[in-house]
Amino acid sequence: MDIRLLRPSDIPLIQHANLENLPENYFMKYYLYHALSWPQLSFVAVDVSRPKKTPYDYPKIVGYVLAKMEEEPADGVQHGHITSLSVMRTHRRLGIAEKLMRQSQLAMVETFGAQYVSLHVRVSNKAAIHLYSKTLGFDREKTEAKYYADGEDAFGMKLDLSTIRQQIQEAALEESSSEAEDEGEPVGDVGKAGDEGKKGGEKDLAVRSKGTKRKVKVGRPLGVQALVEKDESKHS
Ligand SMILES: CC(C)(COP(=O)(O)OP(=O)(O)OC[C@H]1O[C@@H](n2cnc3c(N)ncnc32)[C@H](O)[C@@H]1OP(=O)(O)O)[C@@H](O)C(=O)NCCC(=O)NCCS
Repeated sequence: MDIRLLRPSDIPLIQHANLENLPENYFMKYYLYHALSWPQLSFVAVDVSRPKKTPYDYPKIVGYVLAKMEEEPADGVQHGHITSLSVMRTHRRLGIAEKLMRQSQLAMVETFGAQYVSLHVRVSNKAAIHLYSKTLGFDREKTEAKYYADGEDAFGMKLDLSTIRQQIQEAALEESSSEAEDEGEPVGDVGKAGDEGKKGGEKDLAVRSKGTKRKVKVGRPLGVQALVEKDESKHS
């Protein structure tokens, strides 16, 4: 299974999946509007277990999440919104919806600095409510009476994205501090201690990362000499 960004060419397949799985359907241009305005936020799950027979076979899309940023947020807070999510019956309960949602949430924070993500769900939709509240940690904000065209009420749900923001910041900090440590390694020491016995000048460079040493093989000792162009004619 491949989870990848939605491409405009996937839209007819997404529309088909939406018609199969949900009573809320949209015009083609609404999907296109998402794909063109927020291309980072919508994802598809593609079943890659059956290889393509011809280059013209279209991908087997078994799930999608269609997401956007709220354009004029009433509360003035930058946030994302899940427009639609569904997984084909044949591929349910495999964790696909959870993965699609997590990818979109991450992209909302990374790309647009979203503070939270919101969505609506039918009050009778047990599977989706479990996914949103138990698996992903959404809070139920309010009940919107007769939200759907058939008169069913919706729960308005919301997930604070500050944990994801924090994780991104921590990862960036870790990366920059390990880079700083690497820069601190004295170049002259590389290839000295413990490397004398090795053949052909082959050395191991120890790179510190997250408190552990990772050994990286290099073909010859680093140094200015190795980089200087040699005048081969003198040896012949
Ligand atoms: C809701 C839906 C998207 C879930 O997709 P999925 O890929 O099967 O979900 P996952 O496998 O990622 O499951 C996530 C969690 O939901 C639970 N879950 C999934 N289907 C469930 C069901 N029918 N009843 C109870 N819990 C269910 C899983 O057990 C899992 O819980 P866990 O994390 O505690 O183990 C899918 O059922 C679907 O497409 N339904 C029709 C369309 C729809 O309702 N979309 C949502 C509109 S708001």
